[in-house]
Amino acid sequence: MRVFSGIQPSGDLHVGNYLGALQQFVRAQSLDAFYCVVDLHALTLDVEPVALRERTTELAAAMVASGLDPERCTLFVQSHVSYHAQLSWLLECVAGYGELTRMTQFKEKSDRAHGVRAGLLTYPVLMAADILLYDTEEVPVGDDQRQHLELARNLAERFNNRYGNTFTVPRAVTPAAAARVMDLQQPTRKMSKSVASELGTIYLFDSPEAIARKVAKAVTDTDGEMAFDWERKPGLANLLEMFAGFTGEDPRAIAARYHRYGDLKRDLTEAMVEALAPIGERYRALREDPAQLASVLAIGAARASSVAATTYQRAADAIGLTHPT
Ligand code: AMP
Ligand code: TRP
Repeated sequence: MRVFSGIQPSGDLHVGNYLGALQQFVRAQSLDAFYCVVDLHALTLDVEPVALRERTTELAAAMVASGLDPERCTLFVQSHVSYHAQLSWLLECVAGYGELTRMTQFKEKSDRAHGVRAGLLTYPVLMAADILLYDTEEVPVGDDQRQHLELARNLAERFNNRYGNTFTVPRAVTPAAAARVMDLQQPTRKMSKSVASELGTIYLFDSPEAIARKVAKAVTDTDGEMAFDWERKPGLANLLEMFAGFTGEDPRAIAARYHRYGDLKRDLTEAMVEALAPIGERYRALREDPAQLASVLAIGAARASSVAATTYQRAADAIGLTHPT
């Protein structure tokens, strides 16, 4: 099963990224899985060159620390494989302006940004190029990426209809629990790297004390009734989903086991710390050996490039581009 996914080096990783994406990446890893630090995507928002460089390496280290084994999957940096930007252009000439302006994430981000970059509009096309270059069947992502995946499918089908069968049509795979982790202080808002709320966001590398404090202060409700109900009790539902994400249980079964919010929060903290502490330790060790990480990424880029080259050539031929002779 060919698998591809990516994460932007655009801020500190949080438990939403872990449960929605990284944990799924680790489960789906195989020699047919490609995971990418999508640095070109990070250019859609304002970022200092020095910060981008640092975050790219940090994110690659965090992905390995989370359990991606470079011997068992391909880990690479998007800009190291030039075909991503090249295929993106071909797909921009297949995508419609209207369908891009209708993307929810574009509407939200362009409302917040000053001086909206054209890249923010075309970003989902670059994402489609990432996916289609690897003949990807499954894309493990959080729930917020579903609409982008739908666009990737539409572009693949449109290209295939217009120019002949070229691309595999991919599908999104989201986790059973915690596909959309919410802010602990505002449980109707997604936990997010770009709109950080200090108490509402649990970072992958938070200390056990910070995790305990944030979980203890998480907003719930005052009726004290233990029930898994997103409509009436979003704060509690979010905690139950996270718990389920970390333990693999069903959120309803967890709710049935507890009577008091305090007990639930204490055990959730314990489950989180147990899962995240070893990741932090591996991360610190990896950061001490940048040469090793660089070599992993170089091997990854070479492997990714050889697959991407074939697909790109197929697409370029289908659309009518010529080769130098
Ligand atoms: P990003 O931080 O936007 O680069 O997202 C990287 C991955 O994490 C994507 O697969 C997202 O869908 C996933 N993700 C981001 N935020 C959340 C969240 N709050 N809950 C679940 N998954 C998330
Ligand atoms: N757009 C994704 C996000 O913000 C990151 C991403 C870029 C991605 N290219 C991808 C995810 C390809 C899956 C597959 O989270």
